[in-house]
Amino acid sequence: SSPSKIRIYEVGPRDGLQNESKFVPSEIKIELINKLSAAGLKDIESASFVSPKWVQQMSDGQEVMKNINRAPGINYPVLVPNLKGYEVARQCNVEEIAIFPAGSEGFSQKNLNCSVEEGLRRFKLIADQAVKDGLRVRGYVSCVVGCPYDGPISPKTIAKITEELISMGCYEVSLGDTIGVGTAGSVRKLLREVLAVTSPDRLALHFHDTYGQGLANLLAGLEFGITTVDSSISGLGGCPYARGASGNLATEDLVYFLYGLGVNTDVDLVKLIEAGRYISNFLGKPTESRVNRAIGDK
Ligand code: HMG
Ligand code: MG
Repeated sequence: SSPSKIRIYEVGPRDGLQNESKFVPSEIKIELINKLSAAGLKDIESASFVSPKWVQQMSDGQEVMKNINRAPGINYPVLVPNLKGYEVARQCNVEEIAIFPAGSEGFSQKNLNCSVEEGLRRFKLIADQAVKDGLRVRGYVSCVVGCPYDGPISPKTIAKITEELISMGCYEVSLGDTIGVGTAGSVRKLLREVLAVTSPDRLALHFHDTYGQGLANLLAGLEFGITTVDSSISGLGGCPYARGASGNLATEDLVYFLYGLGVNTDVDLVKLIEAGRYISNFLGKPTESRVNRAIGDK
């Protein structure tokens, strides 16, 4: 049976843009975020306060966070890698932050320049402070199925990190298939382990669609009762430190899929398609969303 409601957590302005080599000016990022909120999305990850030496594309996070229309009832979380980023997030009056330890040693070194354990230690410092300051904290685990450096990752390892994130005060943990190698089979195995340490309402699914398995994996995940799904407008996305990682599951495809299941999303697909067009046109490349292509071509 299908859930009656799914919470869509949009990552386009952050995950979607961070891998783009052409710098997207702040005005375009701001307009994209405003279009996404006008389309009815309620959770829009809008920036990351990481080192500009590592991800130049995200270097204008403050400008973005200070100038978007913050509509009431809409959540605009940001990614933070360390206390330095946390301080900047605070200056921008952010209400929710996301911390992002890796599920594998290889990716942790490449993405965070430290071991998994050291990453968890640093993220705990941030979570402790954020909880004290009354902010919501979301956790990500990356490479939950496979790592571009270490290969397949054991579900038990991911369950353990998930448990640690929950104990740090994360209201939710998003399971990231960073390089999109998961299948319905491996996602099921993963969720059986992770759901031994937490409940489905504390989890979100974050699928990159590199191998075209995003929707199949999602359907496998929904069977476990998970009701939060991450997706990216126009299917943008990827991580500069995970070579070959392509875009996330496209928000347009997700909304169409959920519509087919009779699941309420409160999202206006026409406005969403328009937002997808807007950013794809700016980037000068075709949309990665099949639904956007199909409907837009009519
Ligand atoms: P490091 O080089 O070890 O750190 O990087 P550092 O403390 O030595 O800092 C290096 C320089 O960056 C210094 O500048 C710092 O001041 C500066 P310098 O003194 O050389 O002039 N710096 C900062 N500046 C602004 N804001 C900051 C900040 N921090 C340091 N917050 C570090 C360690 C963690 C900072 C770095 O590795 C980093 O920023 N990594 C983030 C990489 C990233 O953003 N990856 C993409 C997001 S993860 C993802 O996409 C996966 C996900 O979608 C889930 C999934 O798909 O599975 C979430
Ligand atoms: Mg991602």
